[in-house]
Amino acid sequence: MPATKAIVFDLYGTLYDVHSVVQHCDASYPGRGREISVMWRQKQLEYTWLRSLMGQYISFEQATRDALVYTCNHLKLDLDEAICTALCGAYLNLSPYPEVPAALKRLRDMGLPLAILSNGSVFSINSVVQGSGLQEHFTQLLSVEQVGVFKPDPRVYAFACREQALPASQILFVSSNAWDASGARHFGFDVCWVNRHGNTFDELGATPRAVVAGVDEIPALIGAMQAAQQ
Ligand code: 2OP
Repeated sequence: MPATKAIVFDLYGTLYDVHSVVQHCDASYPGRGREISVMWRQKQLEYTWLRSLMGQYISFEQATRDALVYTCNHLKLDLDEAICTALCGAYLNLSPYPEVPAALKRLRDMGLPLAILSNGSVFSINSVVQGSGLQEHFTQLLSVEQVGVFKPDPRVYAFACREQALPASQILFVSSNAWDASGARHFGFDVCWVNRHGNTFDELGATPRAVVAGVDEIPALIGAMQAAQQ
């Protein structure tokens, strides 16, 4: 089994909690925050996948805005320009999951280059990572923007390999999104699925090599993988 030379993380839902926006949604629509956030995220993902199938790439910010408009229309909530701008702005300022900062530091101390590969635009990824002060941990922040299509299109995973100058088999790809973990596994990455909430893995013809309940379990996983490789 080839040795792991780098770790590439998904961003939204894996390192950063997309539902950090609940409090902002609640401020505009009291008591509706969680419902809005869940539908908003689901539509945002669907719009990226559908846009990819249509060959109609748009920025992640646009997909996020479109999904919010849909959600508010569907829930019959009045969305004026000021609220729309404020809520979309909250997506640029997400919180990392509590275990993430220390876990990234431990992985970096193990000598592994860390990168992000996200459907977010360059601007969105930079905003989120810099806003949380975690940029020092990453050697590369990779956006699908340079490919013009969204994950799980294999061209995006191929782009990450080119940028890392490594074969897929030497990269551990980490995602909490089962659809992303499946796409990455089909492409040829070694894959770790982060399952914080006891979810069921998707039936998409691929299984992750490892399942963890948080990013803080990855240093031990890497240690075990390295021991098995000796
Ligand atoms: C990502 O960060 C959308 O979670 C997905 O690429």
